[in-house]
Amino acid sequence: MKFQIKSIAAAIAFAACSMVHAEELPSVEVLEKVAKEAYAKYKDDQGGKNADYIPALAKVPSELFGVVIVTKNGDVIKVGDVDTPFSIQSCSKVFTMALVMQESGDEVIYDKVNVEPTGEAFNSIQAIEEGDGRADNPFVNAGAIATVSLIKADTAEQRWDKIIKIYEKFAGSQLEVLEDIYTSEAETNFRNRGIAAVLYNSNNLFAEPLMTTDVYTKQCSVGVNAEQLAVMGGTLANDGVNPVTKEKVIDAEHVPKVLSVMMMNGFYDGSGRWAWNAGVPAKTGVGGGIIAVVPNQMAIVGFSPPLDEQGNSVRAQKAIEYIVNALGLSVFGSGK
Ligand code: DON
Repeated sequence: MKFQIKSIAAAIAFAACSMVHAEELPSVEVLEKVAKEAYAKYKDDQGGKNADYIPALAKVPSELFGVVIVTKNGDVIKVGDVDTPFSIQSCSKVFTMALVMQESGDEVIYDKVNVEPTGEAFNSIQAIEEGDGRADNPFVNAGAIATVSLIKADTAEQRWDKIIKIYEKFAGSQLEVLEDIYTSEAETNFRNRGIAAVLYNSNNLFAEPLMTTDVYTKQCSVGVNAEQLAVMGGTLANDGVNPVTKEKVIDAEHVPKVLSVMMMNGFYDGSGRWAWNAGVPAKTGVGGGIIAVVPNQMAIVGFSPPLDEQGNSVRAQKAIEYIVNALGLSVFGSGK
């Protein structure tokens, strides 16, 4: 009898928890309405400029703009240019960090790369020199290159294979390198090669520097559309399980660590402003993508090539900010 009462109480508690969660997630209709509003509001925003230090990025049409929300239940809400592939760039850094955490544990990232903001540009060499020699965090170029060097692999091919396979699981679809972007970046990435050499010289890069930089460059050139990137984020919002394919990609225990690094470093020297304005973990890329994750609820992706001073898409950040604030989704709480 006691057992029965306990089971009933447990069932009621479980149902109550489920109800709370169901209530927490806005309805698909509400998400559609807000995503459309965000798109309409910023579609004609002329702020920012395409990245041009990677010459091929300057040629991507600046007017492209898409917004996608993927919920933990696998609902997909799309507005605008959501099927156009663009280079994932620094949004990739999130998923390579997740790969290393899954393969070797969270502490490897903490110990060998560190997780501290630099307050400096994403490609700063000074930031490495000013610290203890470690690469500062996995999202600046130094830290992302160091993260690639931590993947367990004997050859460049093995390293690359692990990267593309886990990205495909996160996205739930096949992904290809955008060859024009890769060639353009590989021909011009002297600064990243320098960063790798500086790290290697202080024993803070854990594989051969030029090979590692090349694999990193390839990972940044992976083509995704806004929907695929949003499913990748949705996997983080869903405790490491792809909400569309239902495949487990990483263990849930890694997710809060991944999101914490996104919160602190996702916008580089614009991370404080982003936390202030939007209050959700996010990561940007110079291809114009931004991936934001509302923990246990949804991912919101914006894509548009023109960038602000810190290298973060102007339309994408405004659209995500609009959605987050309209729905009161800041992780720091809100008036809702
Ligand atoms: O290494 C680079 O400079 C680029 N492949 C990635 C930089 C990037 O996306 C910075 N993010 N906003």
